[in-house]
Amino acid sequence: MHTLFLDIKISLSLSLSLSLSLCATMANSEVNHKPHAIFIPYPLQGHVIPSVHLAIKLASRGFTITFINTHSIHHQTSKAQTNNTGDDIFSGVHESGLDIRYTTVSDGLPVEFDRSLNHDQFMAALLHVFSAHVDEMVGKIVRSAQPRVCCLIADTFFVWPSIIAKKFGLSYISFWTEPALVFTLYYHLDLLQENGHFGSHDIRTEAISYIPGVQSIEPKDMMSYLQETDTSSVCHQIVFKAFQDARGADFVLCNTVEELEVETISALQAQMPFYAIGPIFPSGFQKSIVSTSLWSESDCTQWLNNKPKGSVLYVSFGSYAHVTHRDLVEIANGLSLSKVYFVWILRADIVSSDCVNPLPVGYNEEVGNRAMIIPWCSQIAVLTNPAIGGFLTHCGWNSILESIWCKTPLLCFPLLTDQFTNRKLVVDDWKIGSNLSNRMPITKEEVSENINSLMSGKARDEYMKAIGQVREKLENATTPKGSSEQNMDSFIKDLKARTQPCELTKNLQSARTCNSNPRTQTHM
Ligand SMILES: *[C@@H]1O[C@H](CO)[C@@H](O)[C@H](O)[C@H]1NC(C)=O
Ligand SMILES: *[C@@H]1O[C@H](CO)[C@@H](O)[C@H](O)[C@H]1NC(C)=O
Ligand SMILES: *[C@@H]1O[C@H](CO)[C@@H](O)[C@H](O)[C@H]1NC(C)=O
Repeated sequence: MHTLFLDIKISLSLSLSLSLSLCATMANSEVNHKPHAIFIPYPLQGHVIPSVHLAIKLASRGFTITFINTHSIHHQTSKAQTNNTGDDIFSGVHESGLDIRYTTVSDGLPVEFDRSLNHDQFMAALLHVFSAHVDEMVGKIVRSAQPRVCCLIADTFFVWPSIIAKKFGLSYISFWTEPALVFTLYYHLDLLQENGHFGSHDIRTEAISYIPGVQSIEPKDMMSYLQETDTSSVCHQIVFKAFQDARGADFVLCNTVEELEVETISALQAQMPFYAIGPIFPSGFQKSIVSTSLWSESDCTQWLNNKPKGSVLYVSFGSYAHVTHRDLVEIANGLSLSKVYFVWILRADIVSSDCVNPLPVGYNEEVGNRAMIIPWCSQIAVLTNPAIGGFLTHCGWNSILESIWCKTPLLCFPLLTDQFTNRKLVVDDWKIGSNLSNRMPITKEEVSENINSLMSGKARDEYMKAIGQVREKLENATTPKGSSEQNMDSFIKDLKARTQPCELTKNLQSARTCNSNPRTQTHM
């Protein structure tokens, strides 16, 4: 009955009448207390992981979730699995009664396209083409799904969520998977520009001390995109547009903990509804029943179980960043010199997907039984093994949160985007680890020295003490009275207050704004 009514309205092909009829549907039925959110993660490993676990968390709080992966992410995830879950990565959670629906959409490129090798083309597709596919899919779901869809949860890095949310009369919940510090720096790009710290040929090198809630930060600790003088790249366009769009967010959920970034978060809260709800982990901090890995995982449990407690360095540069061949060789030789045990995650495309074997000739024989070198693993399974004593990392935010959770001090080798800023938090602010290198270019001798001072001695004792404190803040935040749980409660309360009862006039207004906005039309 409702569907018929909607179809007639849609045939008039006005989003104005779409909003109107949806409201009528809502007003006719009982006000629905079960919020239904469409959730669209950014199609990169580091974003999909916390998105899947946030989706599960929200579903366990009573949300209906329709989770939309790209065809490419879905294809790679299913291929990577030993147990095929078929068309639905969430099939394992349905038994527990969670209402998570799953579908996929094209990112605009063929599934077999090498996104790692052709990064700029991939990003250009996300910038220019993806929104058309999302628009069509969201429209389809909004018109047919029960319970009625009330909100769109999408990664802050997308350039279109507030526009699409408005078009369909949904609340836009922006999901930020990096620290609040990084969010606020992007958000205040205009201040950085005014003060000559961004977007000019000779960028000022003095510390930045005018961002609300940020006492002081050196330009070299900003995200890589903000340190570049050429700001015409695809990624720059994405950042500019995404943070323009984020101003239209009704809520921002951030995978951080209030106690870790008190001032930054309270300054942001003065400007927008910003909720620190992290750390978002799989439940019980165990390998998730929902498979999120893009590559098949090697198991090194047996190998680790034979090693003394805290004796093994875990080395991983994440799923996405590339290391230059030169640096990779210095790191390899530094690991060899250090004499420590190590598990090294060496992705096939770590240098580039057309550089097949970047390690020095005879390296595997040289390090022998001291090393387990594998292409990919379950990071949680490795980090929770008592043999692990340190983590040489590219400083991706998920890796940092997981390492803190396992009280594993970090050795930092940031490569791009937020990793430089994350390094500052880890090394300078929280003192839970050190730099891999303080000199350029990096050398094997320095790598070896820094590995050894992370893994044993006085410096290690200091890192262990500090990381114990930070871990306790994370742990406290996730208890029922803790900040993250309380923030989640407030978010849900505020969202419900906003989405019911149906506000006819507001929806009409948004439909009108949307139709009369020329920028909207060029986007869609
Ligand atoms: C695969 O499925 C079997 C049977 O359902 C289960 O026992 C096993 O743990 C699964 N393996 C993985 C890696 O999930
Ligand atoms: C670590 O590296 C950063 C940035 O490369 C540098 O500013 C900082 O001084 C280094 N820390 C130490 C203790 O040398
Ligand atoms: C964690 O919570 C306990 C109990 O409220 C408190 O005593 C402790 O200081 C908190 N730890 C940190 C690091 O904030």
